[in-house]
Amino acid sequence: MAFPQRPNGPMKSRWTFFRQWLKDPRSMSSISPSSLHLARRMIDQLPQDARRVVELGGGTGVFTQALLEHGIQPSDLMVVELNPALATLLAQNFPEARVVQGDARQVAALARDTGYVDEGPADAVFSGLGMLSMSRQVQREVLESAFELTREGGSFIQFTYGHTNPVSPVVLADLGLHVRRGEIAWRNLPPATVFVFNRGRSTHVRPRSIVP
Ligand SMILES: C[S@@+](CC[C@H](N)C(=O)[O-])C[C@H]1O[C@@H](n2cnc3c(N)ncnc32)[C@H](O)[C@@H]1O
Repeated sequence: MAFPQRPNGPMKSRWTFFRQWLKDPRSMSSISPSSLHLARRMIDQLPQDARRVVELGGGTGVFTQALLEHGIQPSDLMVVELNPALATLLAQNFPEARVVQGDARQVAALARDTGYVDEGPADAVFSGLGMLSMSRQVQREVLESAFELTREGGSFIQFTYGHTNPVSPVVLADLGLHVRRGEIAWRNLPPATVFVFNRGRSTHVRPRSIVP
């Protein structure tokens, strides 16, 4: 499949990203966009039959481009980005996808408002958010909202710098999530590890028989 030339090329995208980082380093979490190498390690973790994907924290669209090249149809891809300048850049570069300027904590409501969920739940949520710099409460709200629009068995795929799971164990326990480690993207600066979160299966607990 041939992809259109994007109006904002890599140089302009990187420059916009850097300027937004100068304004708000905590929200941006990184001085430069992720590498294509990391995008591919994230894609490796998509459920095999994944068709509908929601991306959080799209930034300059490195993951967006990789998802489209992987074969996700633009109408099945919703990209949420909080930063207005980056959301504009994404919308210009990917007019065929559903780019929404908004907060990942409200992703389920955004998916309803834009009509994304009318065609079914997401198979996976692909997160470029800086989870480590988020408070426990924000992590909880993002994951809760993301799993609200994800099908049973769907995945939340997240990268982090370093080797440890970036989500608080308290949040994981409260939301009934389990986590596994994916691959390390060594050729990313800095190297990043991919983690995959899934909802735990609820196990039927037999009532204990009461002996009279
Ligand atoms: C580490 S950058 C990753 C950007 C891009 N996915 C990449 O990997 O290059 C984090 C991105 O998340 C965005 N972001 C931060 N908080 C957000 C939120 N609550 N909702 C949506 N996007 C958010 C930032 O504006 C930034 O673009």
